[in-house]
Amino acid sequence: MKKIVILISGRGSNMEAIVRAQIPGAEVSAVIANRPDAAGLAFAVDHGIVTQVVDHKAYPSREAFDAALADAIDAYRPDLVVLAGFMRVLTDAFVARYAGRLLNIHPSLLPSFPGLHTHRKAIEAGVRVHGATVHFVTPTLDCGPVVIQAAVPVLPGDDEAALARRVLEQEHRIYPQAVRWFVDGRLTLTDGRVLVQGEGALPGGWTVPPVEA
Ligand code: GAR
Repeated sequence: MKKIVILISGRGSNMEAIVRAQIPGAEVSAVIANRPDAAGLAFAVDHGIVTQVVDHKAYPSREAFDAALADAIDAYRPDLVVLAGFMRVLTDAFVARYAGRLLNIHPSLLPSFPGLHTHRKAIEAGVRVHGATVHFVTPTLDCGPVVIQAAVPVLPGDDEAALARRVLEQEHRIYPQAVRWFVDGRLTLTDGRVLVQGEGALPGGWTVPPVEA
């Protein structure tokens, strides 16, 4: 059984999608939040999952917080650490500690639009296609080998909220898929890129069918 620790900061809807997916061979050992008021904690408690808060405000530095967070995570001996709306910049030491077993989801088609307000940036840039990316975490923020992406159209008249809703729906689909692949041992990191075993067998090599606007 592969053990997963999920880190959240707020709503936790991606964590919820992963828990609801009931991935065979995987168990969510704990959900850890950096904010005591993270709404997603209630869902985890309701589902009998151990929860813990490591409040970043209680630590004098990023390094001290990350060290405490790593201690909390390591107590569960996870095979995989999943960042699900975890809105903290992590130190290089933290990222190095979980190299190859730390996943993040970001609401854009990386490398476009790293950072915050991705939906607003996409609308302002006038792009016709936007989306979400699950990637292995490397020291640069919102960067790292891509595991899976999903694209959505940007429609005329979209505002940030409408576009965010459309992207989030896809996030809830691709994050459990990425975790499933990891748990099944289908992901290999080579030359900074992810190879998904068996992916080439899909028509046209697409993991996610292209969307029609
Ligand atoms: C999600 O849209 C996720 O992609 C984003 O925060 C939201 C969290 O929602 N993450 C980032 O922007 C990371 N750079 P959730 O708490 O409902 O999963």
